[in-house]
Amino acid sequence: MNIGFNAEKGLGGVLIPPPDKSLTHRALMLSSISSGISTVIDPLRTGDCLSTIGCLKSLGVEFSVRNSGEDNRGGASEKKHEEITVHGRGLHGFREPCNVLDAGNSGTTMRLLAGLLAGLPLYAVMTGDNSLLKRPMKRVVEPLRAMGGNITGRDNGSYAPLTFLPGDGLLMPVDYELPVSSAQVKSSVLFAGLRSKGTIVLTGKIHSRDHTERMFKAIGLPVTADGEMIKLEPVVELPAFDFRIPGDISSASFFIAGALLSGKELKVIGCGINPTRTGFIRVLKRMGADIVIEETEVRMGEPVGVITVKPSSLTGTAVTEEEIPDLIDEIPLIAALAVSAEGKTVVSGAEELKHKETDRLATTANMIKSLKGTINVFSDGFMINGPQKLKPGVVESGGDHRIAMAGAVLSAYTGGTVDVNGFDAAAVSYPNFIEHFIFLGGKADE
Ligand code: S3P
Repeated sequence: MNIGFNAEKGLGGVLIPPPDKSLTHRALMLSSISSGISTVIDPLRTGDCLSTIGCLKSLGVEFSVRNSGEDNRGGASEKKHEEITVHGRGLHGFREPCNVLDAGNSGTTMRLLAGLLAGLPLYAVMTGDNSLLKRPMKRVVEPLRAMGGNITGRDNGSYAPLTFLPGDGLLMPVDYELPVSSAQVKSSVLFAGLRSKGTIVLTGKIHSRDHTERMFKAIGLPVTADGEMIKLEPVVELPAFDFRIPGDISSASFFIAGALLSGKELKVIGCGINPTRTGFIRVLKRMGADIVIEETEVRMGEPVGVITVKPSSLTGTAVTEEEIPDLIDEIPLIAALAVSAEGKTVVSGAEELKHKETDRLATTANMIKSLKGTINVFSDGFMINGPQKLKPGVVESGGDHRIAMAGAVLSAYTGGTVDVNGFDAAAVSYPNFIEHFIFLGGKADE
C-alpha cells in the first residue's frame, strides 16, 4: 500500500494516542496465567497484539470482547471503549497447542511468550514472519535454558522457529547477568521466573522499560528492583486484575515530532508517561523544545498524563548509549528532528537498532536520504548536521511500522507530499494513524 502524506498546513491539535503496545502484550499474557477473570480495558487490538491473542487462544485461553459505549473524551481517538475479558488458566494451565504458534511481526510476542512456555509439560513450536525469523532469539533461549527450559531452534536456538519440549512445569532459579539492555529479554526471564522453584536475580543491563516489574508489583507479586538488581521471589499464583491501558507514548511521538516539524501546538492526553519511555521527550527538551508533561493518574503502577508541545526552535544534541533504552523506538524521529535543528546531532551506542523489525539504522538513513537529506551512519549510530532542507519524495517502509510513520510525519517538513511505500506496516502498532494524521490537519491519499 502506497500512501501520499501531505502536512503543508502543519500537524497540531488534541491527540488521544492508541493504547500502549507493550502494556497490552503484558496485560494479555499475565491475565492468561492468572487465577480468575481479568478485564483489559482499551487494549491495542491490532497487528502485534492480535498475534499475542492468537497464540494465547491456541494455548486454550478464552477471551471475550465487548464495546462499552461511545468515547466522548474528544480529540482524535477510537470511537468506542473496548474491553477484553480474559479467563485466566493459572500458572500451569496452558493446553498443548494443536498447531504452530504464529507471533507474526512481533518480537515482544515471541520473546515474552517464550518465558511463559519454557518448561511447561507441553510441546509447542513458535514461528513468525520473515522479519521475525531474522531477529536474534539466543538472547532469550540462553537464560531460559539455564532455568531448565528445553528449547531448540534454527542455528541451535539462535533464530525462530523455536521449539519448546515438555518439562515438568517448574523451572530452576537463576542468577543472570543481562548482556543486552532489552525489556523483552528481562521480561521473558521474569515471566519464566513465575514458575521458578527459587529466587530469580537479574543484574547487568537491567535498565530498559520497566512495565513488567511495575505490573508484578501492582498485582502484589514479590518483586524488588533497585536499579542494580531485580529480584523475584517464588510465586504461587497470580491474582486476576483489571487494567485500563494508557495511550502509547511511542505512537504519540510521531505527532509530537510532526507538531515540532511544522511549528504547531499539540496536546496529547491519556498517555503513558513512564520515565523509562520518556527519553525522547528529555532529549527534545535538551534540544530546546517547549514540552510539559503533567501526571494525572496512576494505573497499575504506570503514570498517565498530558503532554503539551509548543512551537520551538531546536538545536542539535548528542544522544549517548545510556539514554538509548528509554528512547529505543523513537530514534528514527530523532533523525527527523535533527534535520530541522541548528547544528550537529550525534546518536551513539544504538547498535540494538540493527535488530528491530528492520536494521533501523540503515532504514532511518534511507528515509532521510530519500528526501534528499544528508546523514552519516556509523556502526552504532549516526550524525546529522542541520538545519537542512528536505524535498518531497518516496520513503520505503521496508515493512517497518516506525519507519513508515516517521516518513509520513516528515512530510510536515518537506512542504510537499511524501509517498510512503508499504505503509500498511504501520498497522502493527497504530491502526488509525491515517485517521489521526487527517484529524490533526494533514492529508493522506492512496
Ligand atoms: C518492547 C521492548 C523493546 C521495544 C519494543 C517493545 C517491549 O524491545 O523496542 O518495541 O514491549 O518489551 P527490546 O527489548 O528488544 O529493546
